[in-house]
Amino acid sequence: MAIISIIAAAGTNNEIGRQGGLLCHLPSDLKHFKAITSGHTIIMGRKTFESLPAGSLPNRRNIIISRNKDLQPEKAEVFPSLDYAQVKLMNEEEVFIIGGAQIYRQAIEFADKIYLTRIFASFPDADVFFPEIDKSVWKEIARETFMPDKDSNSAVAFSFVEYIRK
Ligand SMILES: NC(=O)c1ccc[n+]([C@@H]2O[C@H](COP(=O)([O-])OP(=O)(O)OC[C@H]3O[C@@H](n4cnc5c(N)ncnc54)[C@H](OP(=O)(O)O)[C@@H]3O)[C@@H](O)[C@H]2O)c1
Repeated sequence: MAIISIIAAAGTNNEIGRQGGLLCHLPSDLKHFKAITSGHTIIMGRKTFESLPAGSLPNRRNIIISRNKDLQPEKAEVFPSLDYAQVKLMNEEEVFIIGGAQIYRQAIEFADKIYLTRIFASFPDADVFFPEIDKSVWKEIARETFMPDKDSNSAVAFSFVEYIRK
C-alpha cells in the first residue's frame, strides 16, 4: 500500500491561497517541495493544476482529480476521484497530495503523513485554507525553523514540519 503524504504551505491561520494562486513566493519552500516530490506521483485538484504557471510539474507523474470527463491535459492524467487514485496507485511507494483546499480537506481523513511548511505570516485576503491539524490524530515528528534571510530570498520566517498519523 502506498504511503499517502500531504504536502502544503500555510500561513498562521491555515491560509493556503487567494484568487486561484499562492499567497507568497518562498523560493526555499519551492526547493523543498521539489526535493520531496521529485520522482514520485503527485495528485492535485483540477483548480490547482490550472494554477500551475507552466502546466504539469516535471520529473513527476501528474494526476489531476476532476469530475470532468472531457479534460485532456498535457503530460498529466485525469482520475475521477481520490478513491480511484488510491486503488490505482496502491503499488507505489509514496504518493503526494499537493492540494488545493478541496483535495486537502478530503485527503486528510485518510493520509498517513503531512509535510507542512508553516509560514509565520497571516494573509487577510486568503480565500482557501488548509484543514485544522487535529493533535489527537497527528503527531509532530520533525520541525526545522528558518528566520527571514536575504540570501535565500525569504522575507518571512517559516518552519518545515512533519506529522504522522498516531
Ligand atoms: N499553499 C499550498 O500549499 C497550496 C497547494 C495547492 C494549491 N493551493 C491553492 O489552492 C487553491 C486551489 O484550491 P481549491 O480548493 O480551490 O481547488 P482544488 O482542490 O485544487 O481543485 C478543486 C477541483 O478538484 C476536483 N475535485 C475535488 N474533489 C473531487 C472529488 N471528490 N471527485 C472528483 N473531483 C474532485 C473538482 O474538479 P472539477 O471541477 O474539474 O470536477 C474541483 O473543482 C489555489 O489558490 C491554489 O494556489 C495552495
